[in-house]
Amino acid sequence: MPLLDSDLPLAAAPMAGGPTTAALAAAVTAAGCFAFVPAGYLSAEAFAAELTAAHATGSPFGVNLFVPQPGTIDPAAFRAYREAIRPDADALGVDLPVEPRHDDDAWREKVALLVADPAPVVSLTFGLPERADIDALRAAGSRVLATVTTPEEARAAEDAGVDGLVVQGPRAGGHSGTFDPRRAITDAATADVVRAVTGVTRLPLVAAGGVSGPADVRDLLAAGAEAVAVGTLLLRAPEAGTTTTHRAALADPAFTDTMLTHAFTGRPARALRNSFARRHHADAPYGYPELHHLTRELRRAAARTGDPHRLHLWAGTGWRSAPERPAGEILRELSAGL
Ligand SMILES: Cc1cc2nc3c(=O)[nH]c(=O)nc-3n(C[C@H](O)[C@H](O)[C@H](O)COP(=O)(O)O)c2cc1C
Repeated sequence: MPLLDSDLPLAAAPMAGGPTTAALAAAVTAAGCFAFVPAGYLSAEAFAAELTAAHATGSPFGVNLFVPQPGTIDPAAFRAYREAIRPDADALGVDLPVEPRHDDDAWREKVALLVADPAPVVSLTFGLPERADIDALRAAGSRVLATVTTPEEARAAEDAGVDGLVVQGPRAGGHSGTFDPRRAITDAATADVVRAVTGVTRLPLVAAGGVSGPADVRDLLAAGAEAVAVGTLLLRAPEAGTTTTHRAALADPAFTDTMLTHAFTGRPARALRNSFARRHHADAPYGYPELHHLTRELRRAAARTGDPHRLHLWAGTGWRSAPERPAGEILRELSAGL
């Protein structure tokens, strides 16, 4: 059985924090592609409502979960970073939280909801959970995919009993799913990461990261992926929930590059290189979700007031090819030649 039930070997990657909407998922499914619904950042109640709505569509879908992270931030490093970014918060009239806040993104509750009301596919990112959770999701009837970024992570995921992998290359937009946020992430084409992973495991896999057109899709399938997931290319589609500030930045020629930075959330993520990332990247400590919570209101205010230089402008290296066109058209064009 294929990992994803869709006519075309194309998926919309999960994009938490607003970009993935029910309308985007519906357009993706209508185009014969597979839609991932993100659970990240949602309360258990909000996720329960999303899950019910996804089931009500009657189409197959995947749910994406953030695996809980160890709370390891050094309080002194947190305070120093708070001071470093205070002028940015002051400029936007935002008070920064004083204490580090840790949470598990309502992991237990979300797994319990999925065990009671299983999604066809559950993908995991940011590492591996306890084996018992993978077993419970599988026993409930879901195919469980782990996001991996190296052959070593792929081996660990196979040992943990998953059904398949999402191989995410370092050119992907948004957070890296790496199990070790502190590791040096070096540039590589996603197709090369896919080939390296197929050298260590026979698990079926979905490839993601840096796709800018149909040739990239064909390369990734030829490298051994069963399907290709795209995120950034859909960010400017009218069905996406991308903020106006983020959309405008993606189309603004003043932004000329992307970078991997943990300055916004304490975990590496690829974003357009803006002033906040440039100024704070070198001093930012690691620590997700503590930094995510520290900068959240600041980033919200930046989005609200149209300040692209204090917002996390998640973008993969293919961002210049992201068109302002309906998602179905974007995906149909990507499938050219398949
Ligand atoms: C705005 C945005 C939000 C994202 N949110 C998630 C998420 O919630 N969970 C996840 O596993 N990956 C997330 N990602 C990463 C995507 O799943 C995927 O790996 C990436 O978009 C693929 O690279 P591309 O953006 O170059 O197509 C996000 C990416 C973007 C651009």
